[in-house]
Amino acid sequence: MKKTQDFIQNNQQRFLDELFELLRIPSVSADPAHNGDVRKGAELVAQHLTEAGADKVEVCDTAGHPIVYGEKIIDPSLPTVLVYGHYDVQPADPIELWDSPAFEPVIKKTDIHPDGAIFARGACDDKGQVFMHIKAFEAMSKSGELPCNVKFMIEGEEEVGSENLGVFIKEHTERLAADIILVSDTGIISNDNPSITTGLRGLSYVEVEVTGPNRDLHSGLYGGAVANPINVLSDMISQLQDDKHKITIPGFYDKVEVISEEERAEMAKAPYDEEEYKSSIDIKNVQGEEGYSTRERASIRPTLDVNGIWGGYIGEGAKTVLPSKAFAKISMRLVPHQEPEEITAQFKDYFESIAPDSVTVKVNPHHGGLPAVTPIDSDGYMAASNAMEKTFGKKPVPLRSGGSIPIVALFEQVLGLKTVLMGFGLNSDAIHSPNEHYGLFNFYKGIETIPYFFEEFTKLSQK
Ligand code: BES
Ligand code: MN
Ligand code: MN
Repeated sequence: MKKTQDFIQNNQQRFLDELFELLRIPSVSADPAHNGDVRKGAELVAQHLTEAGADKVEVCDTAGHPIVYGEKIIDPSLPTVLVYGHYDVQPADPIELWDSPAFEPVIKKTDIHPDGAIFARGACDDKGQVFMHIKAFEAMSKSGELPCNVKFMIEGEEEVGSENLGVFIKEHTERLAADIILVSDTGIISNDNPSITTGLRGLSYVEVEVTGPNRDLHSGLYGGAVANPINVLSDMISQLQDDKHKITIPGFYDKVEVISEEERAEMAKAPYDEEEYKSSIDIKNVQGEEGYSTRERASIRPTLDVNGIWGGYIGEGAKTVLPSKAFAKISMRLVPHQEPEEITAQFKDYFESIAPDSVTVKVNPHHGGLPAVTPIDSDGYMAASNAMEKTFGKKPVPLRSGGSIPIVALFEQVLGLKTVLMGFGLNSDAIHSPNEHYGLFNFYKGIETIPYFFEEFTKLSQK
């Protein structure tokens, strides 16, 4: 891989300039006003794949946003790596909290990234990480060192549930035949402590609507006598967890995977500093389910969180009003064996059952997703581990993440393929938040590591 690594060293600035161009496209999948931008994002990804040396590059239309496909088959008898990622991004809101515009990438130094980081929506999640794969592929193919076959599937709906990708993989099982799926859409513990993600949580997501009177009322004339839907909703939400921060929905924990004490002890060995954790987000103390550590609470245990809540008057000054309606968006992160549809149904039954008869409630389910665990005794994991050990000079540790990539479970169900989650982001990179960024160290480390994954995987799977 000498030529490949030299190619990477000699093209660092160009790689960055090209990534900037992709980051300037506001490919926000959730907002129909950006549909044209999402397509532009797909077309630019396709162009880069072609220029990097991929064949059969195609922007595949779906019922939603397009999927970009491309491949390089050098020898059908060699293994095939299927690279998955997404070029869509979360909305930039609240935009007033960005220090520089979300779609005008700039490099700035931070305490954690003294060599600089790229600030832009999608810099880390996931355009920056997708781009590492395209550039690693370009380096391998232009150096004549691509060791095996590769296929790319880069989608535009990850941030909104990957519904049409589910359809796409069912329709193209043959085209997508491979030996392993490689994804860089997760993170490492820190730049000195590499890790490989071995688990992702699932997701149930609901929107609730609580209706009281048929119109907004004067809070003096009616207040005290008529249920206020915001008060009722707050009260109902508080009943969803007990004082030990256990979720009270009947049946919610029934299928939760029980993790042995040995495995918990093993997980607890990964480097972690709770004081630093707290100070990095300016909190005095953590909070969560009794009997579990902070990291367990954020990875191997299920959760329930209100993501947004609204209703009544939120404009300037004071308006005395007893609102007719109140709303909330509630997510539940799920762990292995919990099923999103079942959990959503349990939520709905329970939420309706605790509603007082002074209001009516509606529960509308959104997209959900299955949790996933990936094996550590596999060629894929070993290849990632060896590759990262080479470039970080330190063996990565396996670690479960609290985030979700619902399509990973479907890859296994539909394509029968395991996924390796070799991501390079940091928790502090502020993905989905204002001032999202991605370290230059991480961007280049990813580009250098990926070719070694290809080399190692080819070696291991031919044994
Ligand atoms: N890349 C993230 C998921 C992630 C980030 C996993 C960091 C592990 C570490 C992905 O783009 C994402 O944001 N997923 C959503 C779920 C989706 C259904 C909207 C999430 O986790 O909220
Ligand atoms: Mn992502
Ligand atoms: Mn995301």
